[in-house]
Amino acid sequence: MSFDVNAVESEIAGTGFCGQIVHFSSIGSTNTVALEAAQAGARTGVWVADEQTAGRGRGGHQWYSKPGDGLYVSALVAPSLPMKSALLISLATGLAARQAIAETTELEADIRWPNDLLVHGRKCGGILVETSVAPPVTDEAEAMLRFAVIGVGINLNHERFPDEMARIATSLQVETGQAVSREKVLAALLRSLDRELIRLSTEPADRLLHRFEITSTWVRGKRVRVEEHGGYTGVTAGLNGSGFLLVNSDDGIRRTVLSGGVREQ
Ligand code: BTN
Repeated sequence: MSFDVNAVESEIAGTGFCGQIVHFSSIGSTNTVALEAAQAGARTGVWVADEQTAGRGRGGHQWYSKPGDGLYVSALVAPSLPMKSALLISLATGLAARQAIAETTELEADIRWPNDLLVHGRKCGGILVETSVAPPVTDEAEAMLRFAVIGVGINLNHERFPDEMARIATSLQVETGQAVSREKVLAALLRSLDRELIRLSTEPADRLLHRFEITSTWVRGKRVRVEEHGGYTGVTAGLNGSGFLLVNSDDGIRRTVLSGGVREQ
């Protein structure tokens, strides 16, 4: 289960992630390591592991992190962005991960808002972005992002999943019949994430929202069940200006989904 950090480094020359990769054979959670580094003052870094013993998912879930079969990586970044852009980092990372999957397998993954990667309706990847806010300079100043830890898990070479996940999870190998190199996917991911982060700081947010909307089949016209506010059903109706999903719920109210938990109905 070797992992060739140098091979990845040579493919990401010129990106903001070059020279930053730290590899572990086993670790609790790469996001936790990145958060600890950020608390200690780091503002950039990439941590990748063959295995996570306490991989974390969104909503307090665990992330199944079988040794050697998946990509488990966290990037620490500190773009100069207002805190209200935090969700945009999640959406941009979803686009970057989708691009990395397309480059390395030719699979066209769908993105379930905000950032679940799906192939043929099953989840092959997930993203956990954890942010910290900088203390405001004045009372009137806009709250700015201090740093963001961007955790990405992609199921690459899993041949099967535990029974409880089997119906909802897939891997790139299951979908294509071919093994995929963790190094290639990581290099493609870091290149596309680097591009997305530059665009986030230089382009108006609506460009990203538009690109997300035309990529994800979940943003408009999808009948969904939303697991918040006690649960409700409706039809997705686009994104608001901050990137939150809008749903025309069956009781006639247009609701804004804040935390995910969106499932097809
Ligand atoms: C989700 O619930 O869909 C998000 C899953 C995110 C998993 C990745 S694996 C690398 C990083 N470290 C973690 O503990 N979680 C993220």
